[in-house]
Amino acid sequence: MRISDNSLKAMQEYYKKELIPIYGEGETQALFELAVEHYLGIPKVKLASELQHRLQQSEILDIYDCAKALKKHIPLQHILGEAWFMGLKFKVNHQVLIPRPETEELCDRIIKENKNAKYILDIGTGSGCIPVSLKKHLPLAEVFACDICAEALELALENALLNETEIQFFKNDVLASNFPARVAARFDVIVSNPPYVLRSEAAQMEKQVLEHEPHLALFVEGTDPILFYRKIIEHCSLLLNPGGSLYFELNPLTANEVQTLATSSGLFREVNLIKDMSGKQRFLRAKR
Ligand SMILES: C[S@@+](CC[C@H](N)C(=O)[O-])C[C@H]1O[C@@H](n2cnc3c(N)ncnc32)[C@H](O)[C@@H]1O
Repeated sequence: MRISDNSLKAMQEYYKKELIPIYGEGETQALFELAVEHYLGIPKVKLASELQHRLQQSEILDIYDCAKALKKHIPLQHILGEAWFMGLKFKVNHQVLIPRPETEELCDRIIKENKNAKYILDIGTGSGCIPVSLKKHLPLAEVFACDICAEALELALENALLNETEIQFFKNDVLASNFPARVAARFDVIVSNPPYVLRSEAAQMEKQVLEHEPHLALFVEGTDPILFYRKIIEHCSLLLNPGGSLYFELNPLTANEVQTLATSSGLFREVNLIKDMSGKQRFLRAKR
């Protein structure tokens, strides 16, 4: 390890030297800020004034080990074991997708458009970031969430407790089975960010995602990239109340196909594609 002295400034220089070639300048600075906040409790806004702060040996090791893992392309959220989503902290591990900023946009929209929702269902919940955030902002709603992966559901439950929310989690394979009778015909909002990458597209994916995020969360098996959307739309005839809304996060490459599917199902009176902040067709809203 070549760190010139035990100041925070020296550690920052070390991050720049080792990580800018991999992540670029802006991303390296952001990673450093997050590591410093996590290990030292120094927030980003105070970093500039704390650069002469002297680190203890254990702190140097933590921040150094973090850089070492980042050099191996391990996502920062996995190194720290946590991710921030909608201003809330979530535990993450290899069994769940790291929550993405696009999904925050989707939650934000659902919260604004469904102030009176009584029953909400999230399909493929992963870390539980969607139901926990919705419950936090729509406290009167009863929120349900399912996943096929038992380990993901365990972590989602931990995250619900961590954020002091009550969510009804249940295990369900959305492709294979019907939903339990107790959840039928009741939802005002159904939301899903399902797997949508074909195995044949894996070669184009970032190494960091491919090697460290669960393939169960990313890939749809077979040749139909919109299989999950197809099944969820079918389930809506039983699960979604008249007047209720279905929200999807989409792969922009198949957004039009999903829109056509929703429209031709005849279940919805209005189907809209919505762009994300970067201008990509990223969400679908279908009103029953
Ligand atoms: C793209 S991730 C989304 C996770 C989380 N909702 C989010 O937005 O961060 C898709 C989720 O669907 C789950 N999943 C995959 N196949 C499933 C199936 N057949 N039935 C139910 N859930 C499934 C995965 O375990 C994963 O948690």
